[in-house]
Amino acid sequence: MKKVRKAVFPVAGLGTRFLPATKAIPKEMLTVVDKPVIQYVVDEAREAGIEHFIFVTGRNKAVIEDHFDVQFELYNTLAQRGKNSELARLQQMQPGPGQTSFTRQQVPLGLGHAVWCARELVGDEPFALLLPDMIMQSERSCMKGMVELHAATGSNIIGVQECDPADAHKYGIVGRGAAVHTGFEITGMVEKPKAGTAPSNLYINGRYILQPEIFAILEHQERGAGNEIQLTDAMLKLQREQAFHGFHYRGETYDCGSPEGFIEANIAFGLARADVGTHVAAVIEKLRLRASSAAA
Ligand code: UTP
Repeated sequence: MKKVRKAVFPVAGLGTRFLPATKAIPKEMLTVVDKPVIQYVVDEAREAGIEHFIFVTGRNKAVIEDHFDVQFELYNTLAQRGKNSELARLQQMQPGPGQTSFTRQQVPLGLGHAVWCARELVGDEPFALLLPDMIMQSERSCMKGMVELHAATGSNIIGVQECDPADAHKYGIVGRGAAVHTGFEITGMVEKPKAGTAPSNLYINGRYILQPEIFAILEHQERGAGNEIQLTDAMLKLQREQAFHGFHYRGETYDCGSPEGFIEANIAFGLARADVGTHVAAVIEKLRLRASSAAA
C-alpha cells in the first residue's frame, strides 16, 4: 500500500465573502492572531507526515508562493539583531527546498476542478486534500488521525464532525455505517441535504485522503450544483468502486472562509496563546460589560 506523501491545497477561490480585503490579498493570507490561515493548514499536514505541498493557485495568489519561500534578507536581519526566537519560529514553519509545487487553476470552475488541476503533480498515489478555509484546534491533528486510518484500510478517508442537526442543510453530510479500525464505513454522501433528509449530523470538515482514481472521474469535467465541477459528485462515483471511511475528528474547527468563523478563530486562538491570551480574555470581558451597561 502506498503511503500518503503529498497534500493538495486548493487556493484558487475568489474569496468574495471577504471583499474588500480580498481585492488584492488572498483570503488564505489573512491572519489568525499572527499567522496566515494557510500556514495553519500546512502545519497540520506536516504534522501528519506529509512531505510535499501542492498549491492550486489563481490570479493574485503569488504572495502565497513568496510566503513559503526563504526570505534571506529578513532571516539575516533577524539573526544580526539577535531575534533568535522569531527566526527559529519562521524556520520551523518553512518547507524545505523542492517540497512545494504550485500550479494554476486559471479559471475557478469549482473545487473538483481545482483538485483535478493537481493531477500531474500528485501522480499515481493517494494524496491528502486540505481546504485552507477550515483551520483546526486540538492536541492531535485531524489529518494525522486520517493518515493512520488510511495506513490501516488503504481506502479513501473523509474527515467528519458533528453539527447541530438543524444546520445539516448547510454542509456535505455522510451516512454512518459499521465501525472500521478508528473510523467507520461511509454509506452515502449528500451535499447540502434538504431539511429533514440528512442521513446523519456528520458533516465533511474539509479534510480528505483520496485515491488517484478520482482524477479519471474529474477528467469528465461534469458540472453539478452552481454549475461548478463538484468534488462530492466525483467522490460519489468513486464510491461505486472503492471504499470510503469516515474519521470522526473531535477537536474544534473554524470556517475561516466566512467573516463570522474567521473572527471566532481569532478569538479562540488568541485566548489559547500564552503571550496574548490573558489580554484577549480581559478585552472580551471589558467589551461584554460595556455592551451590557449600554443595554441597561
Ligand atoms: P469556497 O467556495 O469557500 O471558495 O471554496 P471561494 O470561492 O474562495 O469563497 P467565496 O464563497 O467567494 O467567499 C472552498 C475552497 O476551495 C477553493 C477555495 O480557494 C477554498 O479554499 N476553490 C474553490 C478553488 O481553489 N477553486 C475553485 O474553483 C473553487
